[in-house]
Amino acid sequence: MTPQDAAHVSAPRIEHHTRPLGIGEPTPRLSWWVATDQPDWRQAAYEIRIGQWTSGRIDSEQSVLVPWPAPPLTSREQADVRVRVWAADAAAPSAWSDTTRVEAGLLEPAAWVAGFVGSADSTVGDRRPILLQRLFTVRPELRRARVYATALGLYELEINGHRVGDEVLAPGWTSYHHRLHYRTHDVTDLLHPGENTITGWLADGWWRGEYGWNRVGERYGEDTALLVQLELHYADGTMERVVTDGEWVWAHGPIVRSGIYDGEHHDARIVVSGWEAVREKKAAKGELTAAAGPPVRRTETLRPRSVTRVDERTHLLDFGQNLAGRLRITVDGPAGTAIGLRHAEVIENGRLCLRPIRTADAHDVYVTAGTGVETWEPRFTYHGFRYAEVTGWPDDEIGPDDVVAVVVHDDMPEIGSFACSDPLLERLHENVRWSMRGNFVSVPTDCPQRDERLGWTGDLQVFAPTAAFLYDTTAGIGDWLADVAAETGEDGLVPLYVPHIATSFPQFHCAVWGDVTTVVPLVLLDRSGDAAPVAAGYATAQRWVDGCRRLLNDRDVIASGLQLGDWLDPAAPPDRPQQALTDPYLVATAYLAHSARLLARQARVLGTDPAPHDALADRVTAGFRREFVTATGRCVSDTQTAYALAIRFDLLTTAQRDHAGARLAQLVREAEFRIGTGFAGTPLVLDALTETGHLEEAYRLLLATGCPSWLYPVTMGATTIWERWDAMLPDGTINPGEMTSFNHYALGAVADWLHRTVAGLAPAEPGYRTIAVRPRPGGGLTHASARHLSPYGPITVAWQRTGATLEVTVEVPPGCTAIVELPDRPAVTVGSGSHRFTAPHRAADDDPIQPLPPREHF
Ligand code: BGC
Repeated sequence: MTPQDAAHVSAPRIEHHTRPLGIGEPTPRLSWWVATDQPDWRQAAYEIRIGQWTSGRIDSEQSVLVPWPAPPLTSREQADVRVRVWAADAAAPSAWSDTTRVEAGLLEPAAWVAGFVGSADSTVGDRRPILLQRLFTVRPELRRARVYATALGLYELEINGHRVGDEVLAPGWTSYHHRLHYRTHDVTDLLHPGENTITGWLADGWWRGEYGWNRVGERYGEDTALLVQLELHYADGTMERVVTDGEWVWAHGPIVRSGIYDGEHHDARIVVSGWEAVREKKAAKGELTAAAGPPVRRTETLRPRSVTRVDERTHLLDFGQNLAGRLRITVDGPAGTAIGLRHAEVIENGRLCLRPIRTADAHDVYVTAGTGVETWEPRFTYHGFRYAEVTGWPDDEIGPDDVVAVVVHDDMPEIGSFACSDPLLERLHENVRWSMRGNFVSVPTDCPQRDERLGWTGDLQVFAPTAAFLYDTTAGIGDWLADVAAETGEDGLVPLYVPHIATSFPQFHCAVWGDVTTVVPLVLLDRSGDAAPVAAGYATAQRWVDGCRRLLNDRDVIASGLQLGDWLDPAAPPDRPQQALTDPYLVATAYLAHSARLLARQARVLGTDPAPHDALADRVTAGFRREFVTATGRCVSDTQTAYALAIRFDLLTTAQRDHAGARLAQLVREAEFRIGTGFAGTPLVLDALTETGHLEEAYRLLLATGCPSWLYPVTMGATTIWERWDAMLPDGTINPGEMTSFNHYALGAVADWLHRTVAGLAPAEPGYRTIAVRPRPGGGLTHASARHLSPYGPITVAWQRTGATLEVTVEVPPGCTAIVELPDRPAVTVGSGSHRFTAPHRAADDDPIQPLPPREHF
């Protein structure tokens, strides 16, 4: 093999973009993978070619997020980027990679000449969407056409009746006071010489629709408005623009009402007429920024698993999967047939159980035009549902393709998977994935169905490691963190949900939630190799930790003020989720020590002084030990969560830690392997058991099926992760609590343990440059595996137990190293390529846990 074909280099990736059209970074960082059969392959140098410009050979092992080597891109500039590399021992470079074409968006405010336009009147409280339109002429010899667009509200664009792009719910929800996303579309093929029409659909969305459980409208502004800049580039080098301005007209269209929570009403009989001149509207206060993360798209459609007639006018459909999205109907009925679509996650007594969605109406209505076969899907709403009731269908039967569920969420590349020999555990993992899909809808939300759907910071904080394994979320979460930073006060008050909207919920320095600022940027760094979120969020994290430091009393613990604590532990009464068993101040103090330590790590990453943060972490750790732990390691809250926090956040002396681990294991056994943790303890408890030598208890806790447990919902037919351990009670009735969602990812944070400990795949250095391969078989599993598409290429760890032998295969991407540590074996370090290990293995479950001694022995 010649060096030319020994290594194949992928087309460069531009930042984290999947389609680098209209990007907002003038100097985007570049990444590539190398595929090679050569073991232990390492890169010594690279060369980047941008058009005719070349960087020349740059000696560097870096292949992830390397700096843009050329002059910055200007607005609209296109560049063709290629790369080639030199292996450590090669004199000659690889062949050039394929080319990636990148195109910059509108990089400076002056590049925008369009203005925001909307309907003539102020329409406060009117939830009826509008249409906006403009006719224009295209000359022959058009070479390239781009649309740059966004809205105050939600919009869809059409050119000559064809959809522009494939996004849903654009421009998504950001903290509009600070930032408003726009996107760029290539519309060259939608245009023709002569007369053309551009049409915009415009609805309230998050800009001014009614949402939040207090149902307030006009949160960001009184008017909706559209911003479009269509640029036509001709062969002769000239450019013409069609932009939103006074030349546009508006009218009411067939959508009668639309709201994120309440659904959409579309009357197809309505003939659009009465076009009037638009009015110019106030520009957005927030900065126009090119969206960095993926947009919301339709990602899958599901047919109903069953259709049952439940009364004269109503069919009940079961899609077999709880999801976020909406229904698409294909119907042939007489004009004026009104078809109603209602949505729910669960059924009770054979009908939709609507109580959990609270004030969200989740009700779509389509009125037929009567023109033959009509296909319709709402445009500006989405629902969380597995079941739907369809009323008024014109035929007796609903066929399998007549009503389908369209799954809608951020179109993130899927990069992680897990498999094992236990089907219940595999289903649990699948449920975690579906809850992530159901809740990454423009912002990382708590739930997709009820009158909430807010970017609760605590939920994402605990779920981020799982999210970053399953999907490429660096850009999307990074973008949301920009809003977290923008909305965090000088006093370090991190909103409990971001974007922040006013509700009755108080704002306070809430541990677990505000710690999103210290935890998540480092998760992104570790999983993607990108330090930019740390740099961008450092000042915010510092403000958060400072704010919490001011809450410390003279004993160096937090002991007053509001806290949500170990939210929703199974002992909390249904209507008081914050009344968990663990002292909320123990939780808050533990988290402050942890966050100060993480802030010190952030400082090291950025090359600034970590000492003050380490000193604070030491001080709070000492306070924690004095106040909450006995000398021998018993916590004052004698709960699973208290020990999990103390162990995982390294808050104990060695002697205390051993005892604490033993006590945690004992509590778990005493509970007969029922989970006892809420949002704070759940992501940590299995690691705490594992780290202190109680792997078998960890597996028993993971694999328990009684209520409450991770697998109990699976045995009850769950297809997503529930908000509460017992959202559905063992008798099939729905938990009476006011907050009962069946699609909340927080308790699914356990999947990270499945990846790192059951399968044994974790990053040991940012971006998986060094991989920690540490499978810990147990629980009677006979095989498990995890695959992850790291920034350096695909990684696999797979193991199988045959009798007393453990066989492990590991795939390490070029440029990476794996530290392989099998149970009871010394660690070995291997380079890239395929590796196979066998070792004698006695699993923890070969010696099952002895029956519990009577209670007084503890
Ligand atoms: C949300 C949670 C959130 C919590 C905090 C709930 O209503 O659904 O997931 O973190 O409130 O108060």
